[in-house]
Amino acid sequence: MAEHRSDSRFSGPEVDEHWMVNRRRALKWLIRAGYGAFALAFALPALALRALSQQQTEVASGDALVYASNAGGGTAGQPVMADDLAVGDGIQAFPEGKSDNQANLIQVVRLAQGDGAEGLVAYSAICTHLGCVVYSDLNQDGHIACPCHNSQFDPTANADVTGGPADRALPSIAVSVTDNGIISVAGQFSGPVGPQ
Ligand code: FES
Repeated sequence: MAEHRSDSRFSGPEVDEHWMVNRRRALKWLIRAGYGAFALAFALPALALRALSQQQTEVASGDALVYASNAGGGTAGQPVMADDLAVGDGIQAFPEGKSDNQANLIQVVRLAQGDGAEGLVAYSAICTHLGCVVYSDLNQDGHIACPCHNSQFDPTANADVTGGPADRALPSIAVSVTDNGIISVAGQFSGPVGPQ
């Protein structure tokens, strides 16, 4: 008669125990993987946002200004010529190639006729109250006004606040005019842009 030999590795209480240990390990691994995926789901958008904000361009001296929109007689993306602006005109422009960053938006106002940059002033177009974009056209008092809560800034006096809830002037920025008549940036904003 053939001898029947059972294999003790694959039966009996030891097998059950072995199977249970493996099952526990697998469960632990699944739970850890779940926690990892959960943490990653939160971390990835934050990291992507951080990477995006780090990639944003910043205004720099020498940047030519281009119209931000078709308002004010300009064409979006076209260079802003000093001769385009009559006394009392206000327009909004971005440094060329840097419209990805709203904080680069610049309000240019002609206060008087003059050669080159004479008679021109430029400020951040971001309201210092809560960050709305100010109107490009000056109001009836010749001031820069914000559509959100009607803060007003005097372009003849360093954009000091003349009304509304803003408590800080719009940061100024120096401009110059190139040989071919394009207004360009000649410095940095005098202070932080927008609400602080
Ligand atoms: S955001 Fe400009 S007045 Fe409030």
